[in-house]
Amino acid sequence: MPHRIDIQPAGLHFEQRPSQSLLQSALTQSIRLPNFCRNGSCRTCMCMLVSGTVSYQIEWPGLTREEKKEGWILPCVAEAQSDLVLDVPDAVDLKK
Ligand code: FES
Repeated sequence: MPHRIDIQPAGLHFEQRPSQSLLQSALTQSIRLPNFCRNGSCRTCMCMLVSGTVSYQIEWPGLTREEKKEGWILPCVAEAQSDLVLDVPDAVDLKK
């Protein structure tokens, strides 16, 4: 079963696609998350992981240890390892 990603507060959801980032997976399912560099350095996509677990496609995503501990993630270089709930106030449903 693919992992389900729920986006708060808009109530959107999408599925983690194999070996795609959360950002790419969302886009292929018509949900736009904030982004710019798409390589884990600019932090435009930074958002709060409310629940669940992610892994990273790169060794050093641009987050401090404290930020990771607080629950911040970078969806442009992260993949879901479980169902997730993300807090992304600026997520856009492109189907509307
Ligand atoms: S889009 Fe730049 S860090 Fe994610």
